[in-house]
Amino acid sequence: MSYEAFVSGTGGFTPERVLTNADFERMVDTSDEWITTRTGIKRRHVVDPGMATSEMSEYASRLAMEEAGIGPEDIGMILVGTVTPDMALPSTAALLQERLGAYNAGVSDMAAACAGFLYGLATARAFVGVGQYEHVLAVGAETLTSITNYKDRNTCVLFGDGAGAAIVSRGKGKGKILSACLRGDGRQWADLQIPAGGSLREMEPSDLNNGRRCISMNGREVFRHAVRGMTESARVALRDAGLAQEDVNLFIPHQANVRIMNAVAERLGLTEDRVFNNIEEYGNTSSASVPIGLYEAHRDGRIRPGDTVLLSAFGAGFCWGSIVIQY
Ligand code: ACO
Repeated sequence: MSYEAFVSGTGGFTPERVLTNADFERMVDTSDEWITTRTGIKRRHVVDPGMATSEMSEYASRLAMEEAGIGPEDIGMILVGTVTPDMALPSTAALLQERLGAYNAGVSDMAAACAGFLYGLATARAFVGVGQYEHVLAVGAETLTSITNYKDRNTCVLFGDGAGAAIVSRGKGKGKILSACLRGDGRQWADLQIPAGGSLREMEPSDLNNGRRCISMNGREVFRHAVRGMTESARVALRDAGLAQEDVNLFIPHQANVRIMNAVAERLGLTEDRVFNNIEEYGNTSSASVPIGLYEAHRDGRIRPGDTVLLSAFGAGFCWGSIVIQY
């Protein structure tokens, strides 16, 4: 049996506190000019001590549930895409379940880095499609400040905190999920990693200060593969949806670097007015960036009935993907 899966509600949350490029000029050898021209980022929202991924997920999820018109008891599965869980054990999905009181749900985190929300949304669509659940909550949420090395100018200027969420529902909702293309290439794992703190290399006292517990990245390789991966998966997802590049009304790419976003848009033949862009305000929030974008696009009336929306993301693994939604 197969059912149509719809996005029936979206939500987003970012903390109030802001780190500006001027703040980074005081922390590392950088400039507003370098950060703006190389990344498009001006500000990032960051948590105050005590706030973690599950709390931001809760605020985003409540907005999504309200829009979908469902209560916590209606959720059949909670999937949280994150590389910054509140703790290694249990999953952030379990902690979110308690916060929401969604005790009829299964719970699991999705380990797909910046593509975590897309993997969650595609999995939600599959669960709903086979008739297993009526409503699935897919979340992308990150406290990247907890894994950022504020002595490394190559990475620290990029990242911010935030959460986004979507309810995927059987048979009714605002946007029908038409297709999903998920890909990976484990050969590139070393280009984007947190070296210490896993079972391969346990955390040592010196790791607290040497940056090994934080994101380490080969920026140029990530850039190159991100452009290729997002473009190719977008083409496959559009083809599988029976659509063409010119049918896309709004492209919501992972907000990693404005130059990556523009390069992908150019290859897809999408003009700037069809590309969602909030990187200036939030920086790279990893798995949270696409669902926050989807939420803000809904909230600000940038998605109209009949529109085709293309989501695309790329992250550590490498893993990446694209999803097409018809409103
Ligand atoms: N301020 C000033 N100079 C800097 C800074 C900084 N913040 N960071 C790097 N530089 C310097 C470098 O040291 C280098 O100097 P050098 O030539 O003397 O060695 C110079 O700027 C150029 O460095 P490049 O790496 O060539 O700069 P590039 O144009 O590639 O931009 C960037 C770097 C922004 C990191 C880019 O490669 C990028 O965005 N890559 C993708 C990153 C990404 O998307 N990551 C997402 C995954 S994160 C996740 O999954 C959680």
